[in-house]
Amino acid sequence: MTNVRGWPQWPDRPRGLAYGGDYSPEQWDEETWREDVELMRAAGVNLVNLGVFAWATIEPTRGAYDFTVMDQVMELLGGAGISVDLATPTASPPAWLAHEHPDMLPMTHDGHVLGLGARESFCPSSPHYRAAAAAIAGTLARRYGRHPALVMWHVHNEYSAHVGPCYCPTSAIAFLHWLQVKYGSLDELNSAWGTSFWGQRYSDWQQVGPPRQAPMPTNPAQQLDFMRFTTDEYLACYRNERDVLRAATPDIPITTNFMATSCKHMDYWRWAAEVDVVANDHYLAAEAERNHIDLSMAADLTRSLAQGKPWLLMEHSTSAVNWQPRNIAKLPGELRRNSLTHVARGADGAMFFQWRASRFGAEKFHSAMVPHAGTSSRVWREVCQLGADLERLHEVRGSRVLADVALIWDWPSWWALELEYRPSVDVSFLDRMRAFYTTLWELGVTVDFVAPTADLSGYAAVAAPSLYLLDDDGARNLAGYVSGGGTLLVSFFSGIVDDCDRVHPGAYPGALRDVLGISIEEFHPLRRDEVVRLSDDASADVWSEHIVTSTAETRSTFIDGPDAGCAAITRNVYGNGRAWYVGTRLDSRGLSALVGEVLGDARTVERMESSRAAARMESSRDVEVVRRVGETASFLFVINHETDADATVAARGVELLSGQQVDDKLVVPASGVAVVKEVTDP
Ligand code: GLA
Repeated sequence: MTNVRGWPQWPDRPRGLAYGGDYSPEQWDEETWREDVELMRAAGVNLVNLGVFAWATIEPTRGAYDFTVMDQVMELLGGAGISVDLATPTASPPAWLAHEHPDMLPMTHDGHVLGLGARESFCPSSPHYRAAAAAIAGTLARRYGRHPALVMWHVHNEYSAHVGPCYCPTSAIAFLHWLQVKYGSLDELNSAWGTSFWGQRYSDWQQVGPPRQAPMPTNPAQQLDFMRFTTDEYLACYRNERDVLRAATPDIPITTNFMATSCKHMDYWRWAAEVDVVANDHYLAAEAERNHIDLSMAADLTRSLAQGKPWLLMEHSTSAVNWQPRNIAKLPGELRRNSLTHVARGADGAMFFQWRASRFGAEKFHSAMVPHAGTSSRVWREVCQLGADLERLHEVRGSRVLADVALIWDWPSWWALELEYRPSVDVSFLDRMRAFYTTLWELGVTVDFVAPTADLSGYAAVAAPSLYLLDDDGARNLAGYVSGGGTLLVSFFSGIVDDCDRVHPGAYPGALRDVLGISIEEFHPLRRDEVVRLSDDASADVWSEHIVTSTAETRSTFIDGPDAGCAAITRNVYGNGRAWYVGTRLDSRGLSALVGEVLGDARTVERMESSRAAARMESSRDVEVVRRVGETASFLFVINHETDADATVAARGVELLSGQQVDDKLVVPASGVAVVKEVTDP
């Protein structure tokens, strides 16, 4: 299958769901490779990411190649019927390259050059780095491009994961050129950045640079442009390699692994269109309570980046990671629930970092498919069980998850919301996003994430949690959605500034005043731990504000706090739709009640049953129900995160993991998973 550009969209193999992990044979001897391949077959592995950090193995010194490891391992894997997603090893440039070009090392905002000895030691704007990366990609394409085991290219690894923005002299020049293209003239830049403030006006392009550490917070518009530039530079690195691979092997799909919810630096809406297969890495915050909800959020965001098409879980962990303060091991069954939640939410495969636990290096205490304890271990048995489960679910491949509700997710707004000198340090992007997502998750509503300018017409309801930055196009889009009959819910500190962090003219929230039918006279952030009560019984913290209604009706008022007696929640009829607003950070009970009311107002509860998986017959808090819909069948995933209570849901069909018939009621044991291939009434 190809897309409109004629690019391949998904590898031909493996035929079913992908299963495997990162494989680093350069850390092992030949005997272990042979054992690895046997064990991979035993576990049902059908795809490996090969050579992610193997640059120094393949090219130990400039231009001198050693393909001994890769040649043999490609043969071994291919011979065993295991497909290869071959990596370009450019996330870990070899020491000789940095020694040749010390100016390719990245620099932090306070001027420190980051050294060698770890990985990712490169500046994304460095011409030396880019040339060497294109060269090694080309070398691999020529050597392995026609190898029968090769099914996909894995470009680089987690772009920008550890360095993010680079502030070195090379980046400074590249940023200057980027600004010259964007603004054309210095007058335009001065106006967009508001440099009449604090006497920042520039009189010569040479004075303009990255927002390096300064005595006080640097210009916010400059910081936002630098973040946009940073996305562009890493994206240029990706395209640089991708185009070399595409030219050599036009039929082989190309991917790179995102970190959807955890990478603040990259505007992934811009990346998503550039890859053939959207792939994501996800690691649980092991100590966080109910961390499976964050996992679902990452999966839903990844599916949304893929525009609803199947995506690939490129990395997660079989058990503990090694980089959190306390690396809690997964409980029995957790690996299975985690993996199948990703599949439930649209992944057509589940891969791990990594195949075999390293004996040396910084990640030796990171779990793997083959742990240090070897095959006499619980992790290994669960790895084999998951391989068998995925095989039983092969027909799920290609099916889609449908959602009737969308949350607006915008990276520039995230950047801007969390710059310095905001009304309260307690307002954070992920906090609000998680709160809204969790509320919908608990209500059993499957959501998509969308950019502010996305087509919203298919959604019954849309929510914008603290969408601080909203440009005119985004504002028009939201207003058009509501006037066309949509239902919008907006939370505090939204629609305040434009794309240069300039306050929209007039009272807040300038970009949304009309559609919401309100204006805000003044923000009244609350003290740490201060709680206010609302007339509808909810309580709230962090934020209060003086809302003045124009056309909106007041649904709830503040009972106490700085805005006692004033509106806290409002509803406005606008065109054929409704726009709700909440001017504080509601507690979870209050937010749940509000979201329930807004969904009812959208009058689409019946319609929502199409995506909302199934009525929970005996509902418990932590049971996840999601449906994937294929051309000829639909699949109901039920993941029971409760560790001490069975879950019962209404379902009819065949439970694929056990092969059991389900007549009308499915009981999923505590900590278990079930997937029903559904029979629908004619
Ligand atoms: C990331 C990287 C891997 C590995 C894991 C450890 O996802 O891509 O190479 O470092 O983290 O959790």
